[in-house]
Amino acid sequence: MNAFGNLFKIQIFGESHGAAIGIVIDGCPAGIALQEDDFKFDIERRKPGAKGTTTRIESDRPQLISGVYNGHTTGAPIAIQFANETQRSGDYEALKNIPRPGHADFVLQKKHHGFNDPRGGGHASGRLTLCLVAAGVIAKKIINPIAIHAELIAAGGNTNIDEAIADAIKANDSIGGLIACNVQQVPVGLGDPFFDSLESQISHLIFAIPAVKGIAFGSGFAAAKMMGSQHNDAIIDKEGTTKTNHAGGINGGISNGNAIVFEVAIKPTSSTAQMQESINLESNALETFTVGGRHDVCIALRAPVVVEAATAIALADAYLRSKALT
Ligand SMILES: Cc1cc2nc3c(=O)[nH]c(=O)nc-3n(C[C@H](O)[C@H](O)[C@H](O)COP(=O)(O)O)c2cc1C
Repeated sequence: MNAFGNLFKIQIFGESHGAAIGIVIDGCPAGIALQEDDFKFDIERRKPGAKGTTTRIESDRPQLISGVYNGHTTGAPIAIQFANETQRSGDYEALKNIPRPGHADFVLQKKHHGFNDPRGGGHASGRLTLCLVAAGVIAKKIINPIAIHAELIAAGGNTNIDEAIADAIKANDSIGGLIACNVQQVPVGLGDPFFDSLESQISHLIFAIPAVKGIAFGSGFAAAKMMGSQHNDAIIDKEGTTKTNHAGGINGGISNGNAIVFEVAIKPTSSTAQMQESINLESNALETFTVGGRHDVCIALRAPVVVEAATAIALADAYLRSKALT
């Protein structure tokens, strides 16, 4: 289902080329100061405009439809909507019967027996991450003073991001990227040992971001090659501060009071200008084609703020649950 959360519940709706996209947030506590301007900073960070990003520029103005009154949350469900204003569905006409490799066209077509909206990736479009960013703004307020910072540390395997983007544009291709996320001022005790482990909750939301292919906490996959004596983080005070942070701030599924650190792998954009091959579902013939339309050469450029939002939503849910239990 398209819903997440126990106490901070979110549900996303909309399609890339439909009338609008939006998010409904249930369980947000009453009395949180909230106005349209609060969304501006994070929404701007997700917007295209930089080299290597799509030329589809939307106003992305959040319409606060419900749950906010006199500049504060009311405790009722919050609905935020964003109009789609610059759709160019004609770009997708040529690919009507040809599912793009690497995108969700084929699986959505099969899953929904052809009734899905295929324009611009429909409900699987990266555009819907704008809704996550909006919910993230509210979640960040709930978890304050917990502070989340995500940044792109490499693109296409190159730590020189500008160079990597220039090379990808020159090659008429797309690249992925690696995002590092660091969460400070996390209290001890968020999460549970088993199904609602904090790693699972964060990962659940991170994998809701289209194009995410991996997440690794602390030393991640390198842990498999380390000795226990190397990997253990020595505890040096009663607050649980550790000398190192190979655990990434989580032990037994529970935050340990140190920074939560993890990296997220974003794949190269599937809609590349390179020649590709796919099946024409109408003629049953293999065809070679290039994807037209407006696409990000490197999605990862716009994804750090989405990673922050996803993390904030997972933490807000875990935080409200920890409060409910104490
Ligand atoms: C901010 C953002 C922008 C994206 N822009 C594009 C795009 O321009 N073209 C494209 O093919 N995919 C884009 N994607 C990725 C697709 O939405 C995604 O690859 C697709 O839904 C299939 O999902 P999967 O990659 O998780 O399997 C974007 C993703 C994000 C997070």
